[in-house]
Amino acid sequence: MKIFVALSLFLCTLAAAEDLTGRWVATETTPNGQKRETTVALIAEGSSLKGFIANARSTMLIVDGRADGATVSLTILRESNGVDKRVECSAVVSADELKVTLPNDNNRPPTVLTAKRVSSEKPTMPAPKISLSNDFPPVKYNGLAKTPPMGWNSWNKFHRSVDDKAVRGVADAMASNGMKDAGYVYVNIDDTWEGTRDASGVLQSNEKFPDMKALADYVHSKGLKIGIYSSPGPKTCAGFEGSFGHEEQDAKTWAAWGFDYLKYDWCSASQVYDVKSLPAVYAKMGEALLKSGRPIVYSLCQYGWQDVGEWGAKVGGNLWRTTGDIGDRWPSMMHIGFELQPGRSMYANAGHWNDPDMLEIGNGGMTDEEYRTHMSLWCLLAAPLLAGNDVRDMKKEILDILTNREVVAIDQDPKGVEGVRVAKNGDLEVWEKPLADGSRAVGLFNLGTNAAQVTANFSDLKLSGSHAVRDLWAHADKGNVKDKFEATVPSHGVVLVKIAK
Ligand code: GLA
Repeated sequence: MKIFVALSLFLCTLAAAEDLTGRWVATETTPNGQKRETTVALIAEGSSLKGFIANARSTMLIVDGRADGATVSLTILRESNGVDKRVECSAVVSADELKVTLPNDNNRPPTVLTAKRVSSEKPTMPAPKISLSNDFPPVKYNGLAKTPPMGWNSWNKFHRSVDDKAVRGVADAMASNGMKDAGYVYVNIDDTWEGTRDASGVLQSNEKFPDMKALADYVHSKGLKIGIYSSPGPKTCAGFEGSFGHEEQDAKTWAAWGFDYLKYDWCSASQVYDVKSLPAVYAKMGEALLKSGRPIVYSLCQYGWQDVGEWGAKVGGNLWRTTGDIGDRWPSMMHIGFELQPGRSMYANAGHWNDPDMLEIGNGGMTDEEYRTHMSLWCLLAAPLLAGNDVRDMKKEILDILTNREVVAIDQDPKGVEGVRVAKNGDLEVWEKPLADGSRAVGLFNLGTNAAQVTANFSDLKLSGSHAVRDLWAHADKGNVKDKFEATVPSHGVVLVKIAK
């Protein structure tokens, strides 16, 4: 009898698992209103399951799975900050619905996917991911970006709506409103310019950009340079055509069009590459750009994964993102700038820069005070200064923040050293950047909600004696000070000074 019960229970479980074979699709609406599809592909063998969970960006293999009646447990390989991790998830089956609960990192609530069955056929497993060796010869330095690149990028303001007309308008504005004279030269088109490939595999622009060569010529005619965007994956982050398998061909196309800058964004590359290969994947495009014969600044965008500072220069990168995307909100800028940048300054030097992401100055989500803080910190960090607002239409206060020559000079200082935090007292922070003439730029920041007195102690700056101080936002000499420099700093504000040697 016992044997019979055990056998029938086993057969029941087996039957339940076999029933799960097929494709299940969950459709969610993201906070910005886009539809996102996730496929759960299951193949049952006895009571065990294998398969994968895939969305537009990544494919997660199910490396172990069990079905027990209506309850399913799955172990998946999920990429987290550039590393594959085993994640245990659970699922419940009812009729033609599969509800999968995927735990998330950092105490974020789990993602629940409610997937409907779309087929009972055995799914085909994805091709094994490409693994490349990271033991490659260093890509030769292209000699560019001796100081952090300055310019504009379309993404933060325009997102998908960027087009030829907007780019021309931005170039016109930059050439005439003082930005070009202040050093902003790159006019960078981000994602969503891409069309399809022609019969020979040559990538075309889409209908928003009728003639890329003519556009590049136009931007050049204004005394500016032009940048473009792609991904090493099959698709870009916005789902457009990526450069996978066409690296050299695309680099040649961009060079022929006359482009001067490439932002290369990991996006869907995890679908085809083992994420450990990331440095080698970036080196491939580094070499392709060199081979293109045109000097092209190479901007890596892979969110800081795998300690990019350690190998960014080796793959030919001139700059590399250190974090995920910035948002036009104080908490986002504050987190990315003040909390996530410390500890990376040793990687920055002339030609190679940490990139805490593009500027949000003027996009409307922060106060002018907060935007001055944003600008000051980015300059102390020797960060790329890529305006992210609609520079065709900005108020004078925003233009003044972007083009304050004394502040920009801190960013562009030829010594090429990234500044660091030298003191932190709760919400009050002091940052310092050594400059080529022996002076130093010092930022007194108040991240708190009330105005406060902030002190830069000379002992923290390794200074002694008396030194002349100049306020770079007020454009005012503050006289000589001894032992310390103090200032009252508004909430979320900054006093940025230069202290003479
Ligand atoms: C990623 C990048 C952003 C932007 C978008 C475009 O999210 O980090 O800077 O390029 O892709 O799709």
